Amino acid sequence: MTPSRLHLLIDTDPGVDDALAILMAHAQAEVAALTVAAGNVGLAHTVANALKLVEHAGAATPVHAGCATPLVLPAADAAFVHGSDGFGDVGYVPASTRASAEHAANAIVRLARERPGELTLVALAPLTNLALALRLDPALPTRIRRLVVMGGAVTGRGNFERVPTEFNIGFDPEAAHVVFANWPQFELVDWEACVRHALPFARFDALLAGAGERARFYAAISAKARAFNAANGRGGMVVADALAMAVALEPALVRRVERRHVGIELAGTLTRGATVVDWEGRNGQAPNASIVLEVDQARFEALVARGLGLAQAT
Ligand code: RIB
Ligand code: CA
Repeated sequence: MTPSRLHLLIDTDPGVDDALAILMAHAQAEVAALTVAAGNVGLAHTVANALKLVEHAGAATPVHAGCATPLVLPAADAAFVHGSDGFGDVGYVPASTRASAEHAANAIVRLARERPGELTLVALAPLTNLALALRLDPALPTRIRRLVVMGGAVTGRGNFERVPTEFNIGFDPEAAHVVFANWPQFELVDWEACVRHALPFARFDALLAGAGERARFYAAISAKARAFNAANGRGGMVVADALAMAVALEPALVRRVERRHVGIELAGTLTRGATVVDWEGRNGQAPNASIVLEVDQARFEALVARGLGLAQAT
């Protein structure tokens, strides 16, 4: 029996790894909408990048602009990884389409109400839009089939200036607190798992050597981020959002997962935005996160290849 088609709602801040995740999603699922946040770069760029990706995917996916800033405190972007425009500063021709006039948070609430129990929400950005949607509709979790979050660093090895913190959480800790404290059960793909499941550079380069237009586009926009990964001692190309998307698309590729309570530190000078995991079950709070610890790497890479328009991993 062929599995029923997956229906996704993707919150994103494209960004190079978001781009790969979004191409993967369009290659094998129905994407109800892209809701866009600021994060990797400013909102104007992340929206333009989302529109361009939809064009490259040959889709008509609605794009909704969301929050231009974190909920409380300002935060620095990640242009040093992704390029000033978020897509390697290649100067691509902008898409001819425009974003919807409907705010991302309102679109999340509306789509969940229109399609109760149907949508898998994949959160690939700072959680600002999702936090606002939760405040608008506290019953949102009851209407969403699955929530898969790319974020956090479950043993404190983050990628942010506050060392235990990961970017998506550190950019808007208050938003992450609202989501983690009010979403009873979600799946968490943290930075440390993404580092463990980096794409070996040789494999990444082979995938991008593919003849297709999608591979060529991705090779161009990811060149700066690839150089950053290689220059910063990473064992391969860390495509965090692509791993989270793979978990959303094919849950069976998860090999090891542990359910724990995860809270967000909001006040620490050195730790604001850290994901604090109750590994020993000491704080008496019910587990809220299924922490993905290991996936089937070959199946992950096959989904990446498919997203780049290659029939199977090369
Ligand atoms: O820490 C990695 C996450 O932050 C990814 O989602 C990346 O796109 C950035 O948003
Ligand atoms: Ca992202």
